[in-house]
Amino acid sequence: MNRQRIRLWDLPTRLFHWLLALAVVAAIISGQIGGKLIDLHGKIGLAIVGLVAFRIVWGFAGSTYARFAQFFPTPGKIKTYLNGEWRGLGHNPLGALSVFGLIFLLTAQTLTGLFANDDIAFVGPLYDLISKSLSNRLSGLHELLSNILIALVVLHLAAIAVYGHVKKDKLIKPMLTGWKEGATGESAKGGGVLALIVALTIAGVAIYGASGAWLPEPPLPQTMETPSW
Ligand code: HEM
Ligand code: HEM
Repeated sequence: MNRQRIRLWDLPTRLFHWLLALAVVAAIISGQIGGKLIDLHGKIGLAIVGLVAFRIVWGFAGSTYARFAQFFPTPGKIKTYLNGEWRGLGHNPLGALSVFGLIFLLTAQTLTGLFANDDIAFVGPLYDLISKSLSNRLSGLHELLSNILIALVVLHLAAIAVYGHVKKDKLIKPMLTGWKEGATGESAKGGGVLALIVALTIAGVAIYGASGAWLPEPPLPQTMETPSW
């Protein structure tokens, strides 16, 4: 039996993935229920801003198989994959398309949310920077994108199930443990402590920027002076 195994997904990529999955499910549920949960929805949304910013930096500074350049789906790679001739490790070219699609959609989802309003009492933290009519348009887009996101997540899960059952390629275990069993190739390298500090710092800056904490305080309502007569 081939007991060879390689280190595929580094710990930050795995933590990113499972925290993202949890946060996206929580954001979809809290957004749809709305009402009292909308404040929480905004906070979960900010956490997703940080996670996505982290992953974008990690796509350049992370370890081998987490890097965008490693799995960027060029037309050539997709053709090779569709011809059944792709022999690589990490995200396959079609999987990579969905990874980029998910990251792009999550970016658009969070950006629109930051400027959205629920027509009742809750507004995204950057709402004050735009007009009410533009915010209404972005709120509509936010809702539309959330439906596309749900469809993409369902497709994501379906693809993983097909891989496991039809192709007998169990993708979930490496995303949990980091190890790919029965594979030959180089174990992941790079993505050290310095890269992690840079990625976490940029994620923190992204959350701060998105939180609107840097915006000037809105002026206090003018109190009427009591006339002396
Ligand atoms: C809302 C839920 C989810 C979202 C938004 C999501 C998103 C993603 C993203 C962005 C990646 C790329 C990972 C990276 O390179 O950083 C990924 C990969 C992966 N996800 Fe998810 N995921 C979700 C739920 C799940 C669930 C529930 C499972 C398991 C049942 C799962 C299993 C996997 C696996 C196995 C991979 C690696 C695929 C491969 O080997 O190419 N995901 N997911
Ligand atoms: C991936 C991240 C996010 C997801 C999946 C998501 C999902 C949703 C969903 C499903 C709704 C309900 C849409 C409807 O049916 O009316 C919603 C509404 C809303 N979300 Fe998000 N959201 C995300 C991020 C954010 C962020 C970062 C903010 C702001 C901090 C935000 C602010 C809002 C607001 C203000 C509404 C109410 C808009 C309306 O009722 O039309 N969202 N979101």
